[in-house]
Amino acid sequence: MRFMSSGYIKQETDVLIIGAGGAGMRAAIAAYDSGSRVTILSKSLLGKAHTVMAEGGIAAALANVDSKDSWEVHFADTMEEGVYISNYRMAEILAKEAPDRVRELEEYGALFDRTPDGTIMQRAFGAHTYRRLCHVGDRTGLEIIRTLEDQILHRDIKFFDEFYVTKLLKDGERVVGAMGIKLNTGEFYVFSSKAVIIATGGCGRIYKVTSNSWESTGDGLGLAYEVGAELMDMEMIQFHPTGMVFPPGVKGLLVTEGVRGEGGILLNAQGERFMQRYSPKKLELDARDIVARANYAEIMAGRGTPHGGVYLDITHKGADFIKKKLPSMYKQFMDFAGVDITKEKMEVAPTVHYQMGGIRVDPESTATTIPGLFASGEVASGLHGANRLGGNSLADILVFGKRSGDGASAYSKGVPFGRIDEKEIEAEIERVKSFVGRDGLNPYTVAERLEENMSQNVGIIRNEEGLKKALSTIQELKELSKKVAVNGSLKYNKGLLQALELPSMLIAAEAIVRGALERKESRGAHARSDYPKKNPEMRKNIIYRKGVEGMILEWRPVPEMPEQLKKLVKEEEY
Ligand code: FUM
Repeated sequence: MRFMSSGYIKQETDVLIIGAGGAGMRAAIAAYDSGSRVTILSKSLLGKAHTVMAEGGIAAALANVDSKDSWEVHFADTMEEGVYISNYRMAEILAKEAPDRVRELEEYGALFDRTPDGTIMQRAFGAHTYRRLCHVGDRTGLEIIRTLEDQILHRDIKFFDEFYVTKLLKDGERVVGAMGIKLNTGEFYVFSSKAVIIATGGCGRIYKVTSNSWESTGDGLGLAYEVGAELMDMEMIQFHPTGMVFPPGVKGLLVTEGVRGEGGILLNAQGERFMQRYSPKKLELDARDIVARANYAEIMAGRGTPHGGVYLDITHKGADFIKKKLPSMYKQFMDFAGVDITKEKMEVAPTVHYQMGGIRVDPESTATTIPGLFASGEVASGLHGANRLGGNSLADILVFGKRSGDGASAYSKGVPFGRIDEKEIEAEIERVKSFVGRDGLNPYTVAERLEENMSQNVGIIRNEEGLKKALSTIQELKELSKKVAVNGSLKYNKGLLQALELPSMLIAAEAIVRGALERKESRGAHARSDYPKKNPEMRKNIIYRKGVEGMILEWRPVPEMPEQLKKLVKEEEY
């Protein structure tokens, strides 16, 4: 540790990882095990990550329960769910490597539920052909985080919690480090690093109703965009069909798909099992976008519940089964809503859950388009295309988290440390300090308006009028965000954190809205009432990058699948 005269602490590391959810931690393990010095920076505390909100399971074609399952079927399901704009190579890697990552997790100490013959238990989930979701009751994400955390603590990996990265540092074209503020002490740190991995998760918090925890404000998207990295598929936002609707304090909180996977059914206020109309074959276990839009349509048609949701009922499975398979859901409804789900129906409605888009990466190494910068997990794009299969996010963070760590570590071995510009550091410290003690707007009012705007105008069904309204509000909020101010000091200042988060939140929102306007079709999670059909001409990705005069959007063809993979997917679709 070196204290610098200009008021910051300097650190050196081979691989710097921003984010300590599943992807960040798995990347750290891989980079460390391949001989690199590793430092992790986390906005939150170790073990507190949105990963825990993937409750129902991790998708891996182990074929323990359905013997016909294979990586080929998992690959085909993933491509179909992504409506054929996913990167085929990422889907192939995921389907092939997820089983090894799950077995490895077990060797690390994760305690999965078991089949009677002692193998890892797998449950059904929406749009998976076979029962594929390895699970730990309804706490799978939590068990994964606990297991990885244990591995981190047993390695010599440096960890800074309550740390907010405000800027990536470049030497020419290359990213050579990052800087930011330790939130609980108000100290500034500069990290000189040969490679940087962004694993900051998604941006769900730019919406008012979301399953996402407070950390998910799109920080990594903003950091990458500002240094010139390409983003992709940002218009694709997943609404999970089932979030809590009351009490207001927990509106949006996830109700795991595991409930439907274990036999839960959806009913409207008239007692009708309405999925029989929307998806007679797959019913509640159709793709997330289809079930979410069905729930939304029922509510909009006036067939909703007293609190504005639909009913999710699993009472027919009996109390013992429910408490064993869904202990968190039982407790969550009991504690928050006073509802005993073994005897009463749950009230649920769609909630913003996941960003399919993000930083564009190379499938093999997760390198971004900027040398020295890597990304994995929800913040990266490519794998999920227009829609994500439930359980593929947990597989994603392990498979591509590991690849990120390996890729960044290999890269770091071939480059020297970069030069860091002292003037740039001083200017950034001044920028952060300038929010404190000046006159200005409350940053929370800007954030609240953004959340309201996104939920109202960029929701589960979109149209040109709403999107244009959303864009003009975002432009106004961008101006207002420059005028925010907070009281107090640099230390433990939640208002300051909100002020610092705003630029990334606005970049994420602008990209989502611009992309949604540009994509004049309906595909996967992106549904437009004014363009309700899929347009084959738009089976392309939208790329976003920073231009001199603002955000630039570009249509780019999806990589062409090799013949042997084409044979695995439905011929008429790709
Ligand atoms: O419903 C769930 O348990 C969520 C899983 C996921 O998003 O992968």
